[in-house]
Amino acid sequence: MRSILFICLGNICRSPTAEGLMLNHLVAAGLSHATRVDSAGIGGWHAGDPPDPRAIAAARKKGVDLTPLRARQVRKTDFSDFELIVGMDRQNVADLRRLAPAGSTARIGLCLEEALGLPSEVPDPYYEDEQAFDAVFDLCDRAVRAFVEQVRAGN
Ligand code: 4NP
Repeated sequence: MRSILFICLGNICRSPTAEGLMLNHLVAAGLSHATRVDSAGIGGWHAGDPPDPRAIAAARKKGVDLTPLRARQVRKTDFSDFELIVGMDRQNVADLRRLAPAGSTARIGLCLEEALGLPSEVPDPYYEDEQAFDAVFDLCDRAVRAFVEQVRAGN
């Protein structure tokens, strides 16, 4: 896998957490040159915004800096620019399938299912507390470690 796009609803909580983690793990593994990583939202309400302060704080506790990231909305060209596009929850995946233009080449799937074979969602933490953001970080970390192994293995 040579390119991956993480998708959530707003692109300020879950998908930037996964993007920041993946960038960190790829650099640590010496694989950052080999892989294109980005994140985007189904919605565009937060376009141009940094990640939610609670997501930044949860990541900072674990040594991951999300502050350079900026939100954007998913666009039609993403469906041919990326090899794999993963949604954090089933609604994201349904929306991606609806938005995919005819002839798009990206594989679309659920993040934890594509990474680990787990039919589970990364739940939306936006209306939740700090613990929910910690849980999002831990789920994204598990998924991302598996994706980095896929990159390493050339799968
Ligand atoms: P995310 O969380 O999809 O993980 O970025 C959300 C962020 C913003 C909103 C909903 C979910 N919102 O309704 O603005």
